[in-house]
Amino acid sequence: MQHIKNALEKARQATPGLGAFSAAPVAGTVSAGEAVRRPEVAPVPVVEEPAEKLRIVKLDPTHLERRRIIARSMKDPNHVSFNHLRTRVRKTMQDNGWTSLALTSPTPACGKTMVTLNLAFSLAREPGIRTVVVDLDLKKPAVASTLGVRPTGSIGRYLLGEQDARDCFVQVDPNLIVGLNAGHISASSELIQGARIQELFNYIYTALKPELVLFDLPPMKSTDDAIALLPHIDTALLVVAAGQTTTAEVDECELQMSELNKLLGVILNKSEDLPSKYYYY
Ligand SMILES: Nc1ncnc2c1ncn2[C@@H]1O[C@H](COP(=O)(O)OP(=O)(O)OP(=O)(O)O)[C@@H](O)[C@H]1O
Ligand SMILES: [Mg+2]
Repeated sequence: MQHIKNALEKARQATPGLGAFSAAPVAGTVSAGEAVRRPEVAPVPVVEEPAEKLRIVKLDPTHLERRRIIARSMKDPNHVSFNHLRTRVRKTMQDNGWTSLALTSPTPACGKTMVTLNLAFSLAREPGIRTVVVDLDLKKPAVASTLGVRPTGSIGRYLLGEQDARDCFVQVDPNLIVGLNAGHISASSELIQGARIQELFNYIYTALKPELVLFDLPPMKSTDDAIALLPHIDTALLVVAAGQTTTAEVDECELQMSELNKLLGVILNKSEDLPSKYYYY
């Protein structure tokens, strides 16, 4: 574990966007005083109906649990970690007027999709926070399979000009809309840098009217897709996995994200040493 501890220590010291986040564990030992800083009387936002009527899909709670999506049913006590993550992310994004957040990692299988969806369910449970998740992993999309939903459209095919945007999006909860993707696109970073990506953003913001949009991206070391997309996104989280991610990988990704001024924070996933398997600062 030493390597990941060093990696996180470095990440904590080097990340400008972490000013608003403490290094305290987000579950188990966080002090009540620093966990949540909200105005005493929070205004209740009015939820506007999205312009689009989307296909509504019913999710299977057993499937979600098997895929470690715990923030919807809230049966697993670890879901609290995602509430803390939600509160901190939301506060910083609100303070900065940001609405789009990308999640990436150095290498595959660090837990990006799992964290993206848990964070989204946790956000969408708050009244008035319409959240949109977009599967922008054009190489290995996994949002649909993780949710147990059969996609009828795909973001990749939309970007190729073969489908309408509205066919890619489904409503999975009253406040949660998901843009599904399928298949594998070889020239994915060219697509991400193409004109259709801006049209996708326009569609999301005008037709779906979200408060927050989360983008599930591919790993940074496998393709340049994440780096190509980051200029279009307000900020990003780096998901690293204990026993898997090395200090050098954190350093490299952090540097690339910091150069673009897009690093909001680092999430340590899959840690056995912490009260919760999900740890954020
Ligand atoms: N905290 C955890 N503990 C145990 N297993 C986990 C944890 N987080 C994720 N996993 C498992 O690790 C695998 C990879 O997770 P996930 O698909 O979320 O990663 P990813 O970073 O999105 O992967 P990819 O790079 O392929 O997109 C999945 O089988 C998931 O259930
Ligand atoms: Mg993934």
